[in-house]
Amino acid sequence: KYKKIKLLIFMFGILKLGGSILCNKDIPYSINWDNLNRISMEIKQSIEEYSKKNEKLDLIIIHGGGSFGHPVAKKYINKNEFRNMDIGFWDIQKSMRKFNNIVIDALHEYDIPAVSIQPSSFVAFNGNDIHFDTYVIEGMLKRGLIPVIHGDIILSNGGDYRIFSGDHALPYLSKKLKPDLSLHSSDVDGVLDFKNRVIKHITSENINEVLKYLSPSKKEDVTGGMYLKVMEAYKLGVRTIIFNGNKKGNIYKGLMGEDIGTKIN
Ligand code: IPE
Repeated sequence: KYKKIKLLIFMFGILKLGGSILCNKDIPYSINWDNLNRISMEIKQSIEEYSKKNEKLDLIIIHGGGSFGHPVAKKYINKNEFRNMDIGFWDIQKSMRKFNNIVIDALHEYDIPAVSIQPSSFVAFNGNDIHFDTYVIEGMLKRGLIPVIHGDIILSNGGDYRIFSGDHALPYLSKKLKPDLSLHSSDVDGVLDFKNRVIKHITSENINEVLKYLSPSKKEDVTGGMYLKVMEAYKLGVRTIIFNGNKKGNIYKGLMGEDIGTKIN
């Protein structure tokens, strides 16, 4: 007689929430509460939906600096260099800590086991290489916890500092941890063609054509440009969805692997 074996299927996703969808962009230190609550609810819904199918969603959440990180960081940047960082480092860290607390509190309201990961404490740039130990994050995932990582100020070699953005964290973690799904949500509908229509699917068939629509990002936008996002995701071979997190239902659909925005690979 055979015992009934229950096979638990794991789905591993990394979800980046752009600062622009969690904050009111133009007002410093302002949360977009409607979005934050709705997004938390949609994350909870998807966790429950997987669980109903006897599957488990392993999830890492990354959020940007929004109107907490950027205005404070700006105070300490002079001609592309950081100044007064004996104050600036903790000032930026503190602002991001506040923001991260608010995000995590909202997730806790929906019983999501979110735990805070503060990059300024242990992540650093070494040239363009990122030093980021993920031993603890992987251990948290195994225990069913949901690490919430955020954009932050971090050390850079040569006594310097640099902004560590969500757009650094997502490709770094995707490369290292190989999720089933890498989700970029921001306030745009996806990758757009020259007529501003969303390109539904990017594969080896159309990648070269798509890259023609997207010009490499400007110097001051070293992390956020769409060109880099698409290139990175394509090269990595990890299934990636770029979509609008402002639209109701999209975070849920994205986490469920539905066709929204632009799918890469
Ligand atoms: C920026 O993070 C972090 C700081 C300014 C400290 P991101 O670059 O990921 O933030 P958003 O998504 O543009 O708001």
